[in-house]
Amino acid sequence: MKLFVHGREGVDELSALSDERVLYCGLRHGVQLPYECGIGKCGTCTAVLLSGDVRSRWPQAPGYERIRPERHEILMCQSVMETDVHIKVRPAIKPPAPLPVPEVLEGEIANQKLLNDLVVAFDYRLSRPISFLAGQFISVSTDAVCGFRAYSMTNFSDGPTDRLSFVVKNVPDGEFTDWLFDKNHDGETLVGFGPLGRAVYSSQIDGDFIAMAGGTGIAGIIAILKNASLHGHLERYKAQVVFGLNRIEDVFYLESLNAYGAMHPTLRVMVTLVDDDGVDSLQSRFPKLEFARGFLHEASAEWLRELTEVSVAFLAGPPPAVNASLKMLVGEKKISARKIRFDKFG
Ligand code: FES
Repeated sequence: MKLFVHGREGVDELSALSDERVLYCGLRHGVQLPYECGIGKCGTCTAVLLSGDVRSRWPQAPGYERIRPERHEILMCQSVMETDVHIKVRPAIKPPAPLPVPEVLEGEIANQKLLNDLVVAFDYRLSRPISFLAGQFISVSTDAVCGFRAYSMTNFSDGPTDRLSFVVKNVPDGEFTDWLFDKNHDGETLVGFGPLGRAVYSSQIDGDFIAMAGGTGIAGIIAILKNASLHGHLERYKAQVVFGLNRIEDVFYLESLNAYGAMHPTLRVMVTLVDDDGVDSLQSRFPKLEFARGFLHEASAEWLRELTEVSVAFLAGPPPAVNASLKMLVGEKKISARKIRFDKFG
């Protein structure tokens, strides 16, 4: 089957795989398409269906709240082609650096281990190596659970690698995490698509930076810190990292962040909690971290004034947290939108 993508530059004619999502087909061919989460949450991948038939893989996806069906709009990440299809798309945000072209991934789970009752780590051993940049994510799926989930790699590699590492937090009533936490799944197959995302770090970045993450968005920020630490960036420049969580029960990754804080005097890390019960005990356990009460964007607005010249700001996490933080960085901190690299997922 063929997918015809009508954009400002003309029409791209692309061959689709069987049961392939429109978004993944376009991205796999290197076409720049608008998207954020890749899994039906954000509504950014809207396109107009000019002709042909598509079927939705997840009609209840939250992203459908942002489309106008009466204008024949579809979510590209949830639409599978049933015939040749023509779509019209608006221009995508220009990537900050050349990004690897995403592809269909195959492989299996390895080294799965519980880090505590709520957090599990595992590797995704790919059947062939891929390249990706620190801060990128992939979407993954298993036969046992319907649909894709998006997770950021916590590792990075300067060349192609067949190992992608993840740290996943248990989500109450989350089908994928219920399945993942149920038992050890080493050796079981996952299919995926990626790498995705534009909130990437590269060693060419010069200057102080800010990184803000809500919830699981912190995984990509950890990969950015690892990369910045390894390339000596934090020897030369300052960085401020804000990690937003709802409750103390949601806390994870603080050991790593505390260790980076101890290693780099140039790095300040703030953890914001909407509900601050128990913050005092965290402060004594993690002396290199600072804690504040409130939503990510509100609790950190004043604190982020320390860095006056920011070369880049990274944002990752659920769409509401990223949207509010974007508004704060542009409106209050006066950071040019061009310097902000964000990914909405989770
Ligand atoms: Fe499709 Fe987010 S809803 S990319």
